Amino acid sequence: MGRYIVGVTGASGSIYADRLLIHLRKLGQESHLVFTETAKKVCAYEGFPEMAARADHVYDNKDFFAPFASGSFRHDGMAVLPCSMGSLAKIAHGIGDSLLTRAADVCLKEKRRLIIVPRETPMSALHLQNQKSLADFGAVIIPANPAFYHKPASIEDLVDTVLARVLDHLGLEDHDVGKRWREM
Ligand SMILES: Cc1cc2nc3c(=O)[nH]c(=O)nc-3n(C[C@H](O)[C@H](O)[C@H](O)COP(=O)(O)O)c2cc1C
Repeated sequence: MGRYIVGVTGASGSIYADRLLIHLRKLGQESHLVFTETAKKVCAYEGFPEMAARADHVYDNKDFFAPFASGSFRHDGMAVLPCSMGSLAKIAHGIGDSLLTRAADVCLKEKRRLIIVPRETPMSALHLQNQKSLADFGAVIIPANPAFYHKPASIEDLVDTVLARVLDHLGLEDHDVGKRWREM
């Protein structure tokens, strides 16, 4: 069983985090969840107030005593999704002033998998520059832009086109989320 950190910020797209937690549980993986303050409000607003119940462990974003605030805690990767431009900027600049941004900073310093799923449109040069920095520092940027060639029939199908790639990059390639190109 793997152990994964899921960080949720106040960008639109709470459904990405909700479904990632569903998939991790189905795949028998252990999940550790942290929300920013704004994320809690946006999740409730977008219709996912019960998301925390899908995780194995939930932490307060101010809890720097949480295990994954330290590099010595072993885990298999972290996904920040959806990732706001504010949290993305903090992570790109090593500002670990919350559990979420500290945990992401720890992933970069420990060379652990860090998947960022940014959500904003349009993006300014500053947003793009921060993403370039993160990619250079070893994070994987998987924008929240779904594919359509699978002929998705629902919002969940669309969301899963992004989550399939998130799971792949978390090292969980053996999943059946979404259809793979030429394997359809
Ligand atoms: C309903 C709603 C949707 C939002 N969507 C986005 C978004 O898609 N991308 C983004 O960068 N910020 C978005 N914001 C603004 C962020 O929530 C805000 O910048 C906040 O400070 C982010 O803080 P956090 O990263 O600590 O959650 C949204 C805010 C609200 C209320």
